[in-house]
Amino acid sequence: MALKQAKVITITSVKGGTGKTTTALALAGILSNKKTKTIIVDMDLHSGVVAASLNLKAKKDIYTLVNDYMNHGLKDLDEYITKYNDYIDVLPAPKDPRSVGKINSHYIDVILKKLKYRYDVILIDTNHIIDDINLITFDNSDSIIYVITNDLMNLKNMKTMLAIYKDMNLNNFYLVLNEALSKDKVDLYTINSFLEKNIDYVVPSNAFIKNMRKILMDGKIITLEKAYQKEKPILVLSEMLDKILK
Ligand SMILES: Nc1ncnc2c1ncn2[C@@H]1O[C@H](COP(=O)(O)OP(=O)(O)OP(=O)(O)O)[C@@H](O)[C@H]1O
Ligand SMILES: [Mg+2]
Repeated sequence: MALKQAKVITITSVKGGTGKTTTALALAGILSNKKTKTIIVDMDLHSGVVAASLNLKAKKDIYTLVNDYMNHGLKDLDEYITKYNDYIDVLPAPKDPRSVGKINSHYIDVILKKLKYRYDVILIDTNHIIDDINLITFDNSDSIIYVITNDLMNLKNMKTMLAIYKDMNLNNFYLVLNEALSKDKVDLYTINSFLEKNIDYVVPSNAFIKNMRKILMDGKIITLEKAYQKEKPILVLSEMLDKILK
């Protein structure tokens, strides 16, 4: 059991398909390599794929946890958590998306607060929608990582989000430009000028993994694979984690 409260790192975006889940899994692998007790909470409630990506056969998920909690109180949180390896646990998204509407965000708040006493790091994978669940998640986060690509709509939405952060006087977020999934060729200076804010980290285009399908089929985490350890994209994510966890 962790002595201090966990650092909560949320991975989000302003559009779908920017590489959030891949980033969350990669970060979990880096933390596991450092023997850091980590849980990935799949808060992409409608279409979470964390458990499926890791080939986990989870019997319980966030919905069963919230539902049991509401009806009988919380007995044993561990029962709802699925283990990936010695350092990575997973709290999966609901298996049945029809149950998502029944999840009261109050319980998400309580559950996140309880998890903070059990782990060193909580990694939360989200969807890109601003709803009650994500707002509660953001409120519980020490750091929020926005994974963006350089397509214009993504940058425009990010600019809107930056205005909201400025308005709320919050700056606990990082901008990660994922060039591996960026189609356009736009230089960093142009992006920074457009956003009126500097990108914090660039995951370079060579982070594109040709055999991603095989990695997912095998339920592997790229950052746990020896062949990739010293690759630039992984070093970028490690550097970001070091900064966040400092
Ligand atoms: N570095 C990479 N190399 C190859 N394929 C990648 C890479 N990163 C992500 N992908 C693939 O791109 C797709 C989108 O990535 P991912 O699922 O991580 O994005 P996401 O932001 O979580 O998407 P969503 O908004 O749907 O949850 C997936 O099929 C994923 O396997
Ligand atoms: Mg995802």
